[in-house]
Amino acid sequence: MTSDPHGGPRFRAFARKRRAPSRARRRLGAAVRMIAALALAGGVYTAFTPNASAQDDRTLSSSAQEGKALFDNSCITCHGRDAQGVEGRGPSLIGVGSAAVEFQVGTGRMPMVRQEAQAEQKAPQFNEAQTKQLGQYIQELGGGPQLPSGELVDNLESNPDALARGGELFRVNCSSCHGFGGGGGALSSGKFAPSLHDATPQEIYGAMLTGPQNMPVFGDNELSPDEKREIITYVNLQLQQDKDPGGIFNLGRYGPVTEGLAIFVIGITILVFVALWIAGKS
Ligand code: HEC
Ligand code: HEC
Repeated sequence: MTSDPHGGPRFRAFARKRRAPSRARRRLGAAVRMIAALALAGGVYTAFTPNASAQDDRTLSSSAQEGKALFDNSCITCHGRDAQGVEGRGPSLIGVGSAAVEFQVGTGRMPMVRQEAQAEQKAPQFNEAQTKQLGQYIQELGGGPQLPSGELVDNLESNPDALARGGELFRVNCSSCHGFGGGGGALSSGKFAPSLHDATPQEIYGAMLTGPQNMPVFGDNELSPDEKREIITYVNLQLQQDKDPGGIFNLGRYGPVTEGLAIFVIGITILVFVALWIAGKS
């Protein structure tokens, strides 16, 4: 057997019967085959690397095209063309998913104004529809986590244990940074975990799913979607409803230590006055 690349023995026999192709023709044939092979390889490469060439707008849904226009206006300087990222300005958004975009844009963190320790929450610059379009664009570019549709707060009639379970999950997973009452707290080097008192159910779900900045990601392996809903239920129906169950003074919501101290100080003061009163009477 010969190792002729394109036909094997049968072609050889056929060629020999007529006339061996001239040298020039063989060279030309080789060149044509080379070009064809390169073109094929190039085609296969672009077909399998979705972001290698500029995304063809026609492959985007109409809502994602709207999102792309917004992105090219407000985000491209930091996140780059096709959200590939810009060295030193902003990370690539490929694979962060619509959940991250909806969280970051919905809480006004993005577009970021300047580099700082932590992108601050501000009044959102985009309305809900635009935020969804931006999310849709990033989703279609690179996939990633998406917010579930439907109700994110459990109905206590059909799931009466949701509050108790959510409270327990919150204390285990969230209170170390956000505080037992959800009031927030400082972290190292100018960063902080914000108060959760104004967070919407979508924002809470998005934060858990995407782990913004110094917050860890709570993927569905760490906290199942049902457990996430229970935490949201607890934050929404417990922490956000009775922000100060202790009365007028919340004592920083630091729990038993400050409460004990307050009772101690007030109690001692009363005792001192009682002692003075008794001494003055006798
Ligand atoms: C001034 C620069 C700047 C602009 C403008 C900007 N971003 Fe960002 N963005 C950043 C930086 C920096 C980070 C990383 C923040 C961090 O993690 O500390 C970031 C992070 C993000 C993330 C989180 C990525 C992740 O891994 O979860 C998303 C989503 C995002 N940006 C979306 C947007 C969108 C959408 C816009 C336009 C509406 C935008 N950004 C505009 C600088 C910018
Ligand atoms: C290691 C500390 C840490 C833990 C643990 C943590 N977070 Fe966070 N969280 C943060 C930080 C830091 C931010 C601010 C991130 C930013 O500004 O981009 C944040 C932001 C948030 C926000 C956004 C608030 C807003 O107003 O926009 C929500 C909601 C949230 N976290 C919920 C949770 C929940 C629920 C849990 C538990 C499942 C949790 N976090 C666990 C550190 C933490």
